[in-house]
Order: sequence, then structure tokens, then C-alpha cells
Amino acid sequence: MRLDRFLSEATELTRSQAKRALRQLEVSVDGETTRDAATQVEDGQEIRWQGRLLERIGRRYLMMNKPLGVECSLRPAHYPSVLSLIDIPKLERLHPVGRLDVETSGLLLISDDGQWAHHVTSPNRECVKRYRATLAEPLPVERAESVSRRFARGIELNGEEKPTRPATLERLSDTEVLIGVTEGRYHQVRRMLAAVGHPVATLHREAIGPLELDPDLKPGECRHLRPEEIAAF
Ligand code: URA
Repeated sequence: MRLDRFLSEATELTRSQAKRALRQLEVSVDGETTRDAATQVEDGQEIRWQGRLLERIGRRYLMMNKPLGVECSLRPAHYPSVLSLIDIPKLERLHPVGRLDVETSGLLLISDDGQWAHHVTSPNRECVKRYRATLAEPLPVERAESVSRRFARGIELNGEEKPTRPATLERLSDTEVLIGVTEGRYHQVRRMLAAVGHPVATLHREAIGPLELDPDLKPGECRHLRPEEIAAF
């Protein structure tokens, strides 16, 4: 990896600030001061900036049990950002992978690996997001069967040209359903259920593709993904 890139990953410096630090002879590699931004550095080398020994921060992959009342936006308008609940270095590099509404709880992935995030969110990869919804009004068994068929065909949402991709609805009780969708349109599950006359009372995401929300995470808590969880997408 180039030295200027390493510096920008391991410190609060941007790439151009890293180049400036190099020009100002603030950086050493294995004890030798260097000003060459293109120097290739490897794991195990001792790299210092202003005397401070640096450690590379690799890509980060987190799962959060998103609580109600926080926004997934990085520039939140009305509520705190989900990132305000996380205390790790270089927070500004992290982005929610897909979004949940302020009033939706559950599994949220957060990462600074844009390519991986794209794998997870691209509708073409047909990664099923599973939601548990409670309904404002009871959904009788026979009605659930017809709604489920409509979900499988696709639902036309107000103001959108294309119907939703095939989705699933499983009735668990009078007022509880599991919904599976492969897209991430704005307020999609709420709008789909409202479109068939069954507005949502509460919405919680339980799974994204192969990854289930860790039951040990309390609302607002997060943990790093394990290598096999990252690779599962
Ligand atoms: N669908 C919604 O309506 N809201 C969410 O937060 C996620 C999916």
C-alpha cells in the first residue's frame, strides 16, 4: 500500500494532508524519515507520524440493533444519527449499509467498505431482507393468503413506475407478519402493507440475507461481524 494512503487510513489526516506531512518530514518508516508519498509499505513496518507509532485500521463491518428514534442519515435532520451510538476511530468513514426509518428497529449493517455495501444492497443480488411487522388491524387467514399472492406478484406503489419485485408475506398471528423483500425503496414495507389496507404499527428488521440480528445485542448496541459473516454475502 502507498504510504500516503496508509497515513490517511491510520490517522485523522486526509490524503492531501498526509502528503503535506510527508513534505514537512513528519513521517518515518522503520526509523528513516521519508517524504515520498508513493513508498510502498507493508504490515510489520514501523511507521510513525510526529513520533506517534501508527497502526493500520482495516475495513470495518458492524451489525447494530438499531433502536427507534435515530436516523440512518449521516446528516440527520430531526433525530441523532445512528453513528452517534458508535465509539470507534475514524467514525466519519462509516456508512449505514441501506437504511431503516427512524421508527423502524432491528438489524442495521454499517461499514466503510463501499464495494461490500453494494453487494449487500444491490437489488440484482436478490438478498432478502426479513421484517417482522405488527399490524394496526387484524389480518384474517383468508385475507393473508390473498395479500401474500399480491406481494408475490408485486405491489404498485404511489408515484412509482415499476411495481415492487416479488416479496413474501407470512402470517404469524392476527396482527403479526413476516415480510421478505429484496429491494430497499423508501418506506417500502410500510407502503406495501398500507397499499393492501393493513398499515404497520411497528416494524423490526430481523435478517439481511444469511445474517440474522444477534439476539445478544440490545437496542443501540453493535458488534463487529465475524469473518464468515462478512464473507457470507
Ligand atoms: N421498509 C420500511 O417501510 N421501513 C424501513 O425502515 C425498512 C423497510
